[in-house]
Amino acid sequence: MEQVKTYIDQNKERFLEELFELIRIPSVSSSQIHKPDMLKTAKAVKEALINAGADKAEIHETAGHPVVYGEKVIDASKPTILVYGHYDVQPAEPLELWKSPPFEPEIREGKIYARGADDDKGQLFMHVKAFEFLVSSGKLPCNVKFMIEGEEEIGSPSLKQFCKENKELLKSDVILISDTTMISMDIPSITTGLRGLSYLQVEVTGPNRDLHSGLYGGAVANPVNVLSKMIAQLTDENNHITIPGFYDDVIEASDEERKEMAKAPFDLEAYEDALDIETVQGEKGYSTIERTGIRPSLDVCGIWGGFTGEGAKTVLPSKAYAKISMRLVPNQDSHKVDQLFEAYFKSIAPASVKVEVKSLHGGQGYVAPIDTAAYQAASKAVEATFGTKPVPFRSGGSIPIVADFEEVLGVKSILLGFGLESDAIHSPNENYPLENFYKGIETIPYFYKYFSEMP
Ligand code: BES
Ligand code: MN
Ligand code: MN
Repeated sequence: MEQVKTYIDQNKERFLEELFELIRIPSVSSSQIHKPDMLKTAKAVKEALINAGADKAEIHETAGHPVVYGEKVIDASKPTILVYGHYDVQPAEPLELWKSPPFEPEIREGKIYARGADDDKGQLFMHVKAFEFLVSSGKLPCNVKFMIEGEEEIGSPSLKQFCKENKELLKSDVILISDTTMISMDIPSITTGLRGLSYLQVEVTGPNRDLHSGLYGGAVANPVNVLSKMIAQLTDENNHITIPGFYDDVIEASDEERKEMAKAPFDLEAYEDALDIETVQGEKGYSTIERTGIRPSLDVCGIWGGFTGEGAKTVLPSKAYAKISMRLVPNQDSHKVDQLFEAYFKSIAPASVKVEVKSLHGGQGYVAPIDTAAYQAASKAVEATFGTKPVPFRSGGSIPIVADFEEVLGVKSILLGFGLESDAIHSPNENYPLENFYKGIETIPYFYKYFSEMP
């Protein structure tokens, strides 16, 4: 396997050029305008799999954006790794905050800057190149399947159905995913938990039209004022979520587990400095790592209504809106949380407004056990290339489809991510250090090797 280093060295430039080709297609899954780009990207991924040595690769239409499936089956009696990734990306807006155009990848200070550089084109492409190395060097020790979807960033609305319809095709022993972060390059880690998600949109309606704020102000409920007050009531002074029943299914970590978590290296000051904040904020009684790793949270992702154009317009708006996300911990059910939210939100609305609550998407959290052969293989692989044994840690992010994989396919996932928190995924100037990209390509073949050698 040591040859992988030489292989990377000899092909470095080509790998980047190929990745850049993929990044240049603006595959923003949330927008209809990019529908043709989604198919274009799917075709490019399919080509990349074929060129890397897949026996077959095909595009599967779904109700939404297509899924790319590829495979190389060398021996039915050998284990099978199913690689999952997503070729869709988040919108690049606000564009004016990017130092270089989001879909024109550029290398600055050893990092690739572009939308999708990390999440998840950069990370999924490491798998394609690791696979290329294994095939071309005759070292592929097991069967491989690829399932690369185009709807992760919008909640994977079609993939569960795709899995249900293709159980046989997707039959595998482990699912391998690079779509998460590491603590740092000095403290390599493997993600052992993901949070679930409930994402809702609320609409508050006051009067049936926008009103003159002088003629009506003070006499008619302003939905923006009302919505702000309602949102303020969703958490209390301890930053505890106030929705009745919300914490019912949250499993409290034991003192033992919390002690274990506290051992994970975390520099609060560096964290605050990196974000330019005086101090962190969160649920009373929990550390920062616990607040994202084992506790649920509630955030307003967007809020709008009334006049937001240039200058001043004196208006009492008819409507106000907000998009609200709740990150859930394993064992909390996102449908149940949707219902609890709606009931509470309506109950705190004054009679002067009408309230509508719409669920946009959601999913369950995930816990990856560490006492499995697959985790041991991942741990050994990281140790082989980083020189240190990785620490298991729970991430605050979500990949809701991972819980569905377990439910539908009955297969556990390994979250072998090589991103860093500083990669600014979903933000302007998303980036992926070249070091991480190449380190990922180097590490993945070791996972194949160790996983295939497991009894
Ligand atoms: N790759 C991320 C999730 C992630 C990032 C997990 C870093 C752990 C560490 C994924 O593409 C993502 O953005 N997921 C969404 C959820 C989805 C339903 C929109 C998220 O977490 O907001
Ligand atoms: Mn992702
Ligand atoms: Mn993402």
